[in-house]
Amino acid sequence: MAPDLKGRSLLTLLDYSPEEIRFLLDLAVQVKKEKQDGRIRQRFAGKTLALLFEKRSTRTRCAFETAFGEEGGHPVFLSTQDIQLGAKESVEDTARVLGRMFDAIQFRGFKQSTVETLARYSGVPVYNGLTDLFHPTQALADIMTLEENFGNGRGRKLCFSGDGRNNVARSLMVISAKLGINFTVITPPSLNPDQELIDICKRLAAESGAAIRITGETSEIEGADAVYTDVWVSMGEEAKREERRALLGPYQVNAGLMAKTGRSDTIFLHCLPAVKGEEVTADVIDGPASRAWDEAENRKHTIKALMLATMGLG
Ligand code: CP
Ligand code: NVA
Repeated sequence: MAPDLKGRSLLTLLDYSPEEIRFLLDLAVQVKKEKQDGRIRQRFAGKTLALLFEKRSTRTRCAFETAFGEEGGHPVFLSTQDIQLGAKESVEDTARVLGRMFDAIQFRGFKQSTVETLARYSGVPVYNGLTDLFHPTQALADIMTLEENFGNGRGRKLCFSGDGRNNVARSLMVISAKLGINFTVITPPSLNPDQELIDICKRLAAESGAAIRITGETSEIEGADAVYTDVWVSMGEEAKREERRALLGPYQVNAGLMAKTGRSDTIFLHCLPAVKGEEVTADVIDGPASRAWDEAENRKHTIKALMLATMGLG
């Protein structure tokens, strides 16, 4: 029987079972096919979605807006520059009010506690569209893309080279540990993911059969099915640019690093936006191994699947 996700929020992915994640990934494959075949229904007709953004976005905003709008839903973009949230009104009160008017809420911003408070007080599903700690909807699209290339992700090797403590690396570690994907973070020790999350993921991995490794050695990329990177300086950390450049130079994904996989069919993944010449060279991200553009498109299909399931429409 399909898992019932009606009413659920997506805040970290940690509270989703492997079966629930698998259900969302399978539904995403189905909605992508429907879109490709021109079979778009009106499953969100009469529904409303609040899109709260404290930070900039291209993919996440467009994925939510187009996925919801093309099936008859009404998305409302609310920049936190314009609304009262956190400035003239508490997050709790904003959540209570939005929950009376909207069927679901997406939040992108700084603090994880904000998205969690929205979920606690709104009474409707809340989706984390990126915080400083997690980017769970991105991880769904990443694994969908991995699986488009290699079939079921279980037992595959995914390597993240770059800022190992950032939101994207952390969410990849969670989803990999849940789904039995072998995940290696290649990063300088000062940018390791925090030990608490590593311990949680290692416990999950013991159940799923995944291997979670944290290393400073780029040679550990050998045999990777997919090499992933993300910006060296995440939103809100602009003051760290010089420090990060100095630390992360050896972890740049370039032709030399890709060659260390020892394979010719390794794919390259990036959540985007990319700073070409920093975390990845143009020849890699614009070259034949790159699946970054499929991955961007898959944001839309995975987000549509998430909204359908959590609004009880899947
Ligand atoms: N990958 C991603 O979240 O992109 P945006 O910042 O453009 O939404
Ligand atoms: N780590 C990046 C991801 C952007 C999608 C950031 O937080 O800016």
